[in-house]
Amino acid sequence: MKGIILAGGAGTRLHPITLAISKQLLPVGDKPMIYYPLSVLMLAGVRDILIITTPAELPKFRQLLGDGSRLGINLSYAPQERPNGIADAFVIGADHIDGDAAGLVLGDNIFHGNSFSDVLEKESRNVSGCVLFGYPVQDPERYGVGETDEYGRLVSLEEKPAKPRSNRAITGLYFYDRTVVDIVKSIRPSQRGELEITDVNRAYLEQGRARLVDLGRGFAWLDTGTPEALLQAGQYVRTLEERQGVRIACLEEVALRMGFIDAEQCHRLGAEMANSGYGRYVMSIAGEWAQSPLPLPVPR
Ligand code: DAU
Repeated sequence: MKGIILAGGAGTRLHPITLAISKQLLPVGDKPMIYYPLSVLMLAGVRDILIITTPAELPKFRQLLGDGSRLGINLSYAPQERPNGIADAFVIGADHIDGDAAGLVLGDNIFHGNSFSDVLEKESRNVSGCVLFGYPVQDPERYGVGETDEYGRLVSLEEKPAKPRSNRAITGLYFYDRTVVDIVKSIRPSQRGELEITDVNRAYLEQGRARLVDLGRGFAWLDTGTPEALLQAGQYVRTLEERQGVRIACLEEVALRMGFIDAEQCHRLGAEMANSGYGRYVMSIAGEWAQSPLPLPVPR
């Protein structure tokens, strides 16, 4: 599977914070926002990832993450000239996907929950059709909304409906089979002039090939769209991290646990940031791992 992170857009609801910097580079807790979606793809075992962002911001993402080799992954970058819609990621990323299955994650989506790695590992394997992830929210009219029948099967999908048929938001993580690029070619821009991801998902649904995985209430899917939401997301992350003594979305740790890098490399990466608590955490994880490595996930 190939990965795409869509990290463009103007972030207007965060102005003036985002006048000079991309929303997805803002801090959430002690790390840039894009670390969270990137860790999701890495936990799914995806190592070939395209980051799409605005032409102006692209060099900053490259400066932050480079070609990914330090983390044992391949990162490439492509500009999106205008915010033409989320599904535009598959127009820009068609060559990158190159006939493979694809995992798309929005660069401002933060996921955290028990056994999420297992869910990602399972759902990203042998994808047939599309896999969507649903999450109960109070304000479904702000999102893509999925309705299910009594057997939990998806029956309708709507983008920001005025009268939502359920409280189940469709989150910004999507797994598609190899037909996604052709499906995107078959859809037309919406009234607001965007290639809508919900139209892509609906095309799969009409073919009977869309599946919904409920993330459930024990899970956290956090919003970062407004200054308040951004602050709350940071507080949530820090509260858990301080209480548990572990870090959420620590890329070096994820790379180590996934077997993308070894403990020596992990320690080296931490040592480069030894002045920060984050860097010291990476070093300590590397040290613990070298003492007693945990079993690696099943090779894929
Ligand atoms: O977060 C989940 C929701 O994301 C889904 O429930 C909706 O179905 C989906 O349409 C989307 O809704 P948003 O209102 O959050 O979409 P927004 O236009 O804000 O774009 C989401 C992110 O993707 C945002 O950080 C900017 C980025 N983006 C968006 C568009 C349209 C791009 O990089 N390029 C784009 O062309």
